[in-house]
Amino acid sequence: MTTVLGIETSCDETAAAVVIDAITVRSSVVSSQVVLHARYGGVVPEIASRAHVDLLAPVVAQALVEAGIGDGDLDAVAATVGPGLIGSLLVGVSAAKALALVWNVPFVGVNHLEAHLYAAFLDDPTLELPVVYLLVSGGHTMLVHMEDHGRYRLLGQTIDDAAGEAFDKVARYLGLGYPGGPAIDRVAMDGDPQAIRFPRAMADDSYDFSFSGLKTSVINHVRKHPDVATADVAASFQEAVVDVLVAKARRAADSVDAKGMCLGGGVAANSLLRERFLDASAADGRHAYVPSRAMCTDNAAMVAAAGYWRLLHDGPTPLDAGGDPNLRLPVIGG
Ligand code: KG4
Ligand code: ZN
Repeated sequence: MTTVLGIETSCDETAAAVVIDAITVRSSVVSSQVVLHARYGGVVPEIASRAHVDLLAPVVAQALVEAGIGDGDLDAVAATVGPGLIGSLLVGVSAAKALALVWNVPFVGVNHLEAHLYAAFLDDPTLELPVVYLLVSGGHTMLVHMEDHGRYRLLGQTIDDAAGEAFDKVARYLGLGYPGGPAIDRVAMDGDPQAIRFPRAMADDSYDFSFSGLKTSVINHVRKHPDVATADVAASFQEAVVDVLVAKARRAADSVDAKGMCLGGGVAANSLLRERFLDASAADGRHAYVPSRAMCTDNAAMVAAAGYWRLLHDGPTPLDAGGDPNLRLPVIGG
């Protein structure tokens, strides 16, 4: 039995969690900084790192207490080392190293994207590899063939904006506030998804995505039709994004004859995407793994789970390793 404390501070959530064997979540505490950044319409890096400094100790303490962890119960401390905001990353990485030293257990540096991939195992320990993973977050949009633990093949990715970035930018333009994804999800419920036919970019054979043209189409449409109902714009935009994401994920799964499809990252919390992803998988006779919303958005349980596998494969991370804001998913041939 391996008990790992996970720490996540790559962006605007301060999170800590205790997970056993990458499967059993004993505690998962997430303190969102949304209220601190909302009035600026996005994450302000300096405010984020300062807030992590204030929040991390109580968040870690709460995670340990909720998990009933005593002296000597932990086997490793894992923290996100990238990608993310460097100032924010360093708060979590430094704290994790200090705790690992004090408790005399290994420190494990975790790739945030790999952590998102591992979130699905926490909600469904029966998950069988290989699977095709649609990873959609604020910074990334990728189709990954997860062949085995630590073995990833990149099938496609965005060539410009990430899906979450498109949600955030369109929401900001529509005056729906920050964070944009949940706002569009909510407003779209009252809109007609067929009201406006926005373009589906890169509807070709590739598994790459592009969302920047869609964002421009939304802006042009609203400029031309200032009286258009915001709910219709939100619903039609969401429909276009989800349409492309699901169509490509499905074709990618066909191309490698995948038995299962997995959804992950913050945008995987989107109601329409979850519904369409499940419908498409059922229609194709594939097992769909759609983690709970709490596991899709940033959390530390996924960091602890990925940390468990990294420790098993690579051993402890040296204590002189730093944070890397531009860290990439380690893909085969990448
Ligand atoms: O994975 P995540 O929590 O942080 C990153 O690693 O980026 O993803 C955050 C992104 C944001 O762009 C946010 O707007 C989006 O996920 N998001 C959503 C929803 N909830 C969060 N997008 C669409 N619908 C949602 N319900
Ligand atoms: Zn994330």
